[in-house]
Amino acid sequence: MSTTKGLEGVVATTSSVSSIIDGVLTYHGYNIDDLADHASFEEVVYLLWNHRLPNAAELKDFKEKLSEAATVPQEVLDQLKTIPVDSVHPMAVLRTAVSNLALFDDSADDMSEDANREKAIKLQAQLPTLVTAFSRIREGKEPVSPKSDLSFSANFLYMLTGKEPDEISEKAFNKALVLHADHELNASTFTARVCVATLSDMYSGITSAIGALKGPLHGGANERVMKMLSEIGDVSNAESYIKDALSRKVKIMGFGHRVYKNGDPRAKHLKEMSRQLTHITGETKWYEMSIKIDEIVSGEKGLLPNVDFYSASVYHSLGIEHDLFTPIFAVSRVSGWIAHILEQYDNNRLIRPRAEYTGPSVQKWLPVEER
Ligand code: ACO
Repeated sequence: MSTTKGLEGVVATTSSVSSIIDGVLTYHGYNIDDLADHASFEEVVYLLWNHRLPNAAELKDFKEKLSEAATVPQEVLDQLKTIPVDSVHPMAVLRTAVSNLALFDDSADDMSEDANREKAIKLQAQLPTLVTAFSRIREGKEPVSPKSDLSFSANFLYMLTGKEPDEISEKAFNKALVLHADHELNASTFTARVCVATLSDMYSGITSAIGALKGPLHGGANERVMKMLSEIGDVSNAESYIKDALSRKVKIMGFGHRVYKNGDPRAKHLKEMSRQLTHITGETKWYEMSIKIDEIVSGEKGLLPNVDFYSASVYHSLGIEHDLFTPIFAVSRVSGWIAHILEQYDNNRLIRPRAEYTGPSVQKWLPVEER
């Protein structure tokens, strides 16, 4: 038996949801650059789940369904109010709340295609409600109900702040959602597929995926990028901070990628958004620091920024609390997780690889008093 640490380069499944070929990311054949520049997040979700873009009537209908499903059961909202807000990370809250949603959905264990499609809509629509409701509850405010006439992007920002966002913020946030929606067999998507390949339910698959996304080597990196930027504080400190970290073999969050060795195609969009938004807020230092860090890390280590690096200054510029960055990643990526879960159910086989045993050879049993 031979092993590949971290399953690097192992092709573990077929999929038609998204592809990374020669450094180019596509969602079902559509280049991420085109989608980032032109698509609404709702169109992208439809594409991922239906393998084609919607026409105008289908898009209208899809938006209405998402809007109708956005209200979460009161019991789940009430539970959010019991959480010790000072010590709990919103990703842990989201993981628990999504699991909790299943308890109030009669069709949670109904594995029919129709029931799964309905659950898909509910999960996609309700994650934003959960994230924004928790954010407001911990600030001592009441959750804001979604508005049916707002886009998915605008609704998130509205439910977060209680104010309808301006057009620039809505567009920027929409683009960030589009860029994060799917990414082939990343760690959290693989987790979701492994989970549902046992024929477990969709809520279990999404709950598992949220747990995987939470880690700093995956989705948790974006919050840590902002922590690093805040510690550096000013562009004049960037060089010494980064060189010192690299000399101590500390990983610089937001750099490197298992698949992309010549750069993450999503990063340039976020970089440009970071430039524009920090210019608008007048806090250009976040962008300037990011550029400097990018120069140093690529120069010293040959590592390029991934999707998480510039998204940190983008979300900060949109006025979003730093510990909500990873939950926002989940709000978008749930669309990809669901697409992969539906694909897995459609052509399922249990995912059960092997491990090469490295423990001791046969040992003699000793009764407890002889050990
Ligand atoms: N900073 C400094 N050194 C790094 C970094 C980094 N960000 N990333 C990789 N390296 C170094 C490693 O230390 C290692 O060096 P060595 O060979 O001298 O030991 C070498 O590059 C290879 O790194 P691995 O960790 O083996 O690469 P792997 O493919 O396993 O990991 C990963 C990819 C996890 C993304 C890694 O680059 C990393 O930890 N980056 C920082 C965290 C991060 O940004 N995660 C988000 C990824 S994108 C996403 O999930 C949404």
